[in-house]
Amino acid sequence: MQQRNYTDPAGSAAEISKSAKLRAAISSAELEFLMEAHDGLSAKIVEEAGFKGIWASGLAMSAALGVRDNNEASWTQVLEMLEFMSDATRIPILVDGDTGYGNFNNMRRVVRKLCQRDIAGICIEDKLFPKTNSFIGENQPLADMDEFCGKIKAGKDSQTDPAFSVVARVEALISGWGMEEALRRAEAYHLAGADAILIHSKKSSSTEISTFLAEWGQRAPVIIVPTTYFQTPTDDFRKAGVSVIIWANHNLRASISAMREISSQIQRDQSIAGVENAVASLRDVFELAGNPELAEAERRYLPARQPETKAIILAASRGAELGELTRDRPKCMIDIRGQPLLRRLVSTLNQGGVRDITVVRGYKKEMINIPSIRLVDNDGYADGGELSTLASAKASLEGETLIAYGDILFRHSVLDELLEAEGDIVLVADALWRDRDPDPASRTRDLIACSAPFKDDFLDEAPVHLSRIGPHLEAGEIDGEWIGLAKLSASGTEALGARLTAMIEEPGRANAGMVDLFQDLADAGHAIRVVYVTGRWLDVDNARDLAEARKFL
Ligand code: SPV
Ligand code: MG
Repeated sequence: MQQRNYTDPAGSAAEISKSAKLRAAISSAELEFLMEAHDGLSAKIVEEAGFKGIWASGLAMSAALGVRDNNEASWTQVLEMLEFMSDATRIPILVDGDTGYGNFNNMRRVVRKLCQRDIAGICIEDKLFPKTNSFIGENQPLADMDEFCGKIKAGKDSQTDPAFSVVARVEALISGWGMEEALRRAEAYHLAGADAILIHSKKSSSTEISTFLAEWGQRAPVIIVPTTYFQTPTDDFRKAGVSVIIWANHNLRASISAMREISSQIQRDQSIAGVENAVASLRDVFELAGNPELAEAERRYLPARQPETKAIILAASRGAELGELTRDRPKCMIDIRGQPLLRRLVSTLNQGGVRDITVVRGYKKEMINIPSIRLVDNDGYADGGELSTLASAKASLEGETLIAYGDILFRHSVLDELLEAEGDIVLVADALWRDRDPDPASRTRDLIACSAPFKDDFLDEAPVHLSRIGPHLEAGEIDGEWIGLAKLSASGTEALGARLTAMIEEPGRANAGMVDLFQDLADAGHAIRVVYVTGRWLDVDNARDLAEARKFL
């Protein structure tokens, strides 16, 4: 056999082109193998298995599209599939180009398009358009030999990639024309410029192929497709000087068997439990699709994502002031116009982009059944204070965190203002605290005194800080009321967590509340920022609040 030592036309040592790889496989003295693929996924699997090249089978691509191997899929539809296969892999593709999709002119256009899509070569067979698969029927008519030689020449003259290969497939044995005709045509196609001859046979033994190989005498590389004469040991073909073996349809056939088996079992069982271990994992699917590369690229090209803000909702208490209403459920599950209060709170947080929400429950904990929240329990809620409830969510005290009482409602704008505010520990305070309750002594309130009172001035952005917080401030020093909502930066969360752990262990502070914790932090020198709002919130302590809550919506 004439051996060409093909090198990359660009002369680049970096990456040999796909067409050069195919040409090298065809021209080398070694026996090489092409494995069938019919879409991007099967092409990847062929590459993963270690094959040096892909046979883009006309039969398999047609079957995968649910049509017959009779040119029912148009050549541009085939081209689309090839593009996915080529983009998905780095090994060369030899496409089964049937009869070239028309005459020499169609062949020219196809070859140019294939070169543009980085397809390494085309194999055309000397039959008539529309073709029929070689294993169907007998005595299929052959193309006129000279006309077919013109098609080969036209293909070779049109390739824009110098290493692109045109393989001429001889169907004379299949169509019952015999060995002489096969050899005559092989010679003509070789002289017309074909880079290799594919000699096809549908016999169950390889005798006629062996005869052809012996007669041919290695005048040009020979490719075979032992679909029916698979019993012959591969080594026999190697010894006989075959250049390339095409395993033409086994991925298609394997997928048909696998899909049939799985579909019928699931249909029978009305469950997927029995097949879980028999199918590829989703992780495998993602890896084959190349998701790890995308994750890596996202790190390189996307702006770093802000860490997500989480929320902890303290919802362990009963709300005894509400009497009958909280006999069978905690306060946070009281219905407010068709939805539990907690559900409304969670949905306000969700709309502000806060999705990771931990709810600490205690009293009638089984009644808390809101979707998409994480639940933790404070089973000692009856004896402990708010800090014991917060401590139950210690595992969630990490990163930027909101802490909210479970009995509050507020407008979206309140949350937006809090999320935008800078500071390690930020509290939202209502400057209109006086208007909220005609009788200030009617309940315990989380009053605050700050470094500056609320100013109704947009342009004044000077930060305000907490100086005192608690239920018993002097009337003259009160600047607002904490609404039960706070934001902590990652380091604010860390500081608060440390203080929380320390306080819980201090004797006599077992029943301490959130306000005690904030006061402690302020006393320890932590700057606690206060964001003033004017109304737009409420908490539900008594029947009057409940009526307000219903109006609030
Ligand atoms: C194909 O795979 O589509 C082929 C090979 O052309 S064969 O089916 O053997 O004709
Ligand atoms: Mg075919």
